[in-house]
Amino acid sequence: MKKLIVANWKMQVATTDGLFFLKQIANFSKFKNDLIVCPDFLILLQAGKILENTQHKLGAQNCSLKEKGALTGEISPRDLRLAGCSHVIIGHSERRHIFKEDSALINSKIQVALNNDLIPILCLGESWLERRSGRTRPVLSAQLKSALKGIKIKKSSDLILAYEPVWAIGSGKSLAPEEADKIINYISDRALKLNGKRFKVLYGGSINEDNASIFLLQKNIAGLLVGGASTQELSLKKLLKA
Ligand code: PGA
Repeated sequence: MKKLIVANWKMQVATTDGLFFLKQIANFSKFKNDLIVCPDFLILLQAGKILENTQHKLGAQNCSLKEKGALTGEISPRDLRLAGCSHVIIGHSERRHIFKEDSALINSKIQVALNNDLIPILCLGESWLERRSGRTRPVLSAQLKSALKGIKIKKSSDLILAYEPVWAIGSGKSLAPEEADKIINYISDRALKLNGKRFKVLYGGSINEDNASIFLLQKNIAGLLVGGASTQELSLKKLLKA
């Protein structure tokens, strides 16, 4: 079955390399899995043009909490849409932990993204301490509940969820695929209870060309959110074939 690969380039790819890579990606075809590329903001306008008329989608790594206003340094979801983005990552653990984004802010970002016809990719994940103290499920449930509070989502394709254990991101450690599948099933059920919709749920955290296929084989895992391994042509191609 076709699954989804979301390539989160973070701040790892210099703009010139990113543009070169996007041109290669525009020629990728006949891969098993679908691709959404999330480069940095500075190349989104050009990326939109490069990926236009290809089967690949463009996403942003973040967006502002409002469409317009006195918000120095922010990027409007309206402009992301105009640049050709169809998706936006919201609540990534790096945003939550390094930039102190709280649940109220994440909730506003989800709403404004939806208002601007962007599909949010909402990230959820527990820390190592939370996992060790047996709090993974309640933590994920609370993150989901607060992110979606008061938000009406029309179709199940209007939102994507991504489960990324914080301790697995960029660490080389990943969860056993079977456990990831069970947790993802739990997230999917919680979202169904809260919103009445079965959303796609991705897995992320130290995914690479060697472990991708085993995660993608799991029943409840709709795809992968990939950082490091999505920034090289060869490994990205392998992820798309996995
Ligand atoms: P990683 O990052 O694949 O480099 O662990 C995943 C992510 O942060 O989305």
